[in-house]
Amino acid sequence: MLNDLTRICSLKDNVGKTVTIGGWVYHSRPGGKVIFLVVRDGSGLCQCIIEKTTVPEELFRQLSHLGMESSLTLTGAVRADGRSVGGYEIAVTDAKIFCPTQDYPITPKAHGIDFLLKNRHLHLRSQRQWGIGKIRHTVVNAIRQFFNDNGFTLVDTPILTGIVGEEAGSLFNVDYFEMPAFLTQTGQLHLECAALSFGKVYCFGPTFRAEKSKTRRHLTEFWMVEPEVAFVTLPDLLEIAENFVSFIVKQVLEKNEEELKTLGADIESLKKITPPFYRLTYTQASEILTSQKTQDFLAAQLDEFKKLKQEIENKIAALEIETKGQIKQWRQDKITAELIDLRSDLAEIETKIENNPKHAKLASEFKWGGDLGGSDETIISLMYDKPVFVTHYPRDAKAFYMKQDPENPKVVQNFDMLAPAGFGEIIGGSVREDIYEKLLARINEEGYKLENYQWYLDLRRYGSVPHGGFGLGVERTIAWLTGEKHIRQCIAFPRMMDKILI
Ligand code: 4AD
Ligand code: MG
Repeated sequence: MLNDLTRICSLKDNVGKTVTIGGWVYHSRPGGKVIFLVVRDGSGLCQCIIEKTTVPEELFRQLSHLGMESSLTLTGAVRADGRSVGGYEIAVTDAKIFCPTQDYPITPKAHGIDFLLKNRHLHLRSQRQWGIGKIRHTVVNAIRQFFNDNGFTLVDTPILTGIVGEEAGSLFNVDYFEMPAFLTQTGQLHLECAALSFGKVYCFGPTFRAEKSKTRRHLTEFWMVEPEVAFVTLPDLLEIAENFVSFIVKQVLEKNEEELKTLGADIESLKKITPPFYRLTYTQASEILTSQKTQDFLAAQLDEFKKLKQEIENKIAALEIETKGQIKQWRQDKITAELIDLRSDLAEIETKIENNPKHAKLASEFKWGGDLGGSDETIISLMYDKPVFVTHYPRDAKAFYMKQDPENPKVVQNFDMLAPAGFGEIIGGSVREDIYEKLLARINEEGYKLENYQWYLDLRRYGSVPHGGFGLGVERTIAWLTGEKHIRQCIAFPRMMDKILI
């Protein structure tokens, strides 16, 4: 049967021909003489027109009662119609219903996020999740293509590991035949071994962090791609990273313009993402945070938020008045959906208004020495229209493997890439400590078990070279590209502190 079906995305090649599509009812408008069914098949949407005179009477009756997400095949002639969703229509002459569905739990728009997360198994079919999924597919392919085309060899690093890769505080312990073991936090340490074999390598897979925070930027399971290169300097790494991210953006713009539009992404801003990106040292970033300019910037933002809040409140009030009068059911439904959206926007803006002074205070009190917090990253990245590299963080705030800067031993040769418009960190990377004694001292300082790190230290005894790399978080990158507020929407089945079931 599958072979006999035409996918909606290829209707354009079948104008005038009779085809059969297979899919699910996205929207239905039944009438006495004609039924308009918008059907989705995973490749697009298509309006199907069923006239009473062209199909058997019983079939017409059944089709007119199909609820949202009923599954069926439809056969008919394809015609181009600019006004129709997707640009093509099918004049139906036959149909086969597989699973008539009534009371599909998710109606267009009228639900809050908690409900949608509980119903992820169904919500995955929504236009929004579909669009994000298509973009994710492009991002993943672009990642592979970039490294494959630039001489990198793929190395699959283990998911079960015996050593701490990033920080001991966020490890998932595994019961591993009575030996201490964890789910990997990074493939980097193993990848360093491979870099000294192949020269340029990358790994790409799921990564785990037992993050207790429920922020919009954290998942407990996320996908990370990590390149690692031998004979590399910090400026080399920044150049690879900016070319890499620009390539991903270009591919998404080329392949997913429609999806980006549907999602309301900022396409014009994405078009500006070309190398070079901005470069700041951590010390410069800390000066920005504590400057008067930043306080003024945040104060202006607060005014904007307040104006926006007033506008939303006015809209809500107007709709609430309308619902009290005599109105038709369809209008009532539409208002209910709009109110849910507006109230969610209102809650969001209220959180921003509440956070703004806190963030301003945190920024003004920022002390050289600590890591940049989420709000600090947001502030810096709000000030730029392209990603920003922040380099040379204090040694004490960063992971043990980062190479000390020979010119300033208080900092390391590392970088974070902050996506613009407030999205914050999408990449973390560094040159690695390649001197045996220095790395040994850092491992001891962290209190890690030396015997577990012998193999990692060996790399500094046998043919050690300057080397380094970085890791890009796939979900954070997709959130930035699509304008999605929370990264949980950027993976099909998100894993968070309170979410494991679906
Ligand atoms: O900055 P991180 O922790 O760097 C590393 O793991 C290095 N070992 C990478 C390397 O040099 N090979 O993580 C890298 C990126 C972050 O910038 C972020 O995009 C993503 O991984 N990330 C998360 N994404 C979602 N949820 C979390 N809990 C994340 N933690 C990190
Ligand atoms: Mg980081």
